[in-house]
Amino acid sequence: MQKLVIEGENTLKGEVTVSGSKNAALPILAATLLTDEPCVLHNVPRLRDTRTMVALLESLGKTVEWKADQVTVKSAGTADYVADYKLVSTMRGSFCVLGPLLAKLHKAKVSLPGGCIIGVRPVDLHLKGLKMLGAHIDIENGYVNAQTRRLNGAHVYLGGMFGSSVLATANILMAATLAKGETIIESAACEPEIENLTQFLIAMGARIKGKGSHCLTVTGVKKLHGASFKIISDRIEAGTYILMAAATKSSITLKNACYGHLMALIDKLDQAGVKVAEEGNLIKVTPRKAMKPTGVTTHPYPGFPTDLQAQFMAFMALTQGVSVITDKIYPDRFMHIAELNRMGADIRRDGANAIIQGVKKLYGAPVMASDLRASAALIVAGLAAKGRTEIHRMYHLERGYEFLDEKLAALGAKVHREEESA
Ligand code: EPU
Repeated sequence: MQKLVIEGENTLKGEVTVSGSKNAALPILAATLLTDEPCVLHNVPRLRDTRTMVALLESLGKTVEWKADQVTVKSAGTADYVADYKLVSTMRGSFCVLGPLLAKLHKAKVSLPGGCIIGVRPVDLHLKGLKMLGAHIDIENGYVNAQTRRLNGAHVYLGGMFGSSVLATANILMAATLAKGETIIESAACEPEIENLTQFLIAMGARIKGKGSHCLTVTGVKKLHGASFKIISDRIEAGTYILMAAATKSSITLKNACYGHLMALIDKLDQAGVKVAEEGNLIKVTPRKAMKPTGVTTHPYPGFPTDLQAQFMAFMALTQGVSVITDKIYPDRFMHIAELNRMGADIRRDGANAIIQGVKKLYGAPVMASDLRASAALIVAGLAAKGRTEIHRMYHLERGYEFLDEKLAALGAKVHREEESA
């Protein structure tokens, strides 16, 4: 196992190229199960999570060829319908093979993903939607057994206690493409990743109206065909680099990032004293002199993303004054507080709120990565902190940040990997 070592008080400079979106790539890879024809995907990030999805597709009867950021998925002839616990339990995104398997093979056995460090994460909305399309669903020995003679279009409401669900929308949308008749999905997630999935499904021959909105209307077709498709850039990776620059008061440039996908973060950074501007196809981040504390509340898109909550908190830990961060999507996603406090931050949790009293300095320390975005927050803090920070369990970072060490080094950060001592 490896750890990431950061020699702090970095000033970053230069350019970073943003990779393809992990959370768009995962359901899009799953959507290739809807056809027997080859699909070619471009801009696929090389990550632990995308490799897990590829392994899952291979276990379900696909052959996958990966060349640089291009992935070609073909049918190997025999299709399987069982998504094993080993692959689904390591990554919840795997659960979005359920809709495509059910639509294409009329049966699916997919392991329940279980909870994870960021919360309980139920799948009731996925199951409710598929049942409304005519699936019979039993839960047995930790697996969802779903079958149907044929899926039929229905009017489905997908809002839950915490708003819309990204992967439940992906599952129902994919299932509806091959269902008989019309499906209307109300309170659909409108995250750019779902919009990108919708574009891919349309490229495969699906008939979908309302792309990128809270109401998707799908007219089922008999068959989908192969397609060649480019995945959008990763707005969470882009936001993470922007917050690294903000916390270290650095000016950097992002290439291949989508400004429009980052508006909630850009607005908050403007209030906090960081200018983020679009210049042609580049995004330029420039700190102003004084940084101000600014509260955020996470919401489904276009609100402030929960996947940037931890990184924003690391930045707020260094602004003078008090800020409050509330996570309305995952009210327990606060594992990073204790680790940031080990670095000298002054953060207190109160239910779904974190109350941050800004400090003048953070200090390097050995810290433990607990999940992907919490680990990213520790990098934000480590780059700004005085002294050496060691982030243990760095495999969490490999789930979502492509070429992390290289990109950080190119920005002038003093970062390297070391083997963990036994
Ligand atoms: N929820 C339910 N019932 C359901 C499904 C979700 O109550 O059936 C709740 C969740 O517990 C949560 C809220 O609804 O409170 C939203 O969860 P959502 O279903 O949207 O999350 P997800 O689809 O499982 C994706 C991303 C997450 C990201 C969330 C929220 C992927 C592979 N994962 O998860 O990404 O945090 O949407 O935006 O797309 C990450 O990349 O680090 C990550 C965790």
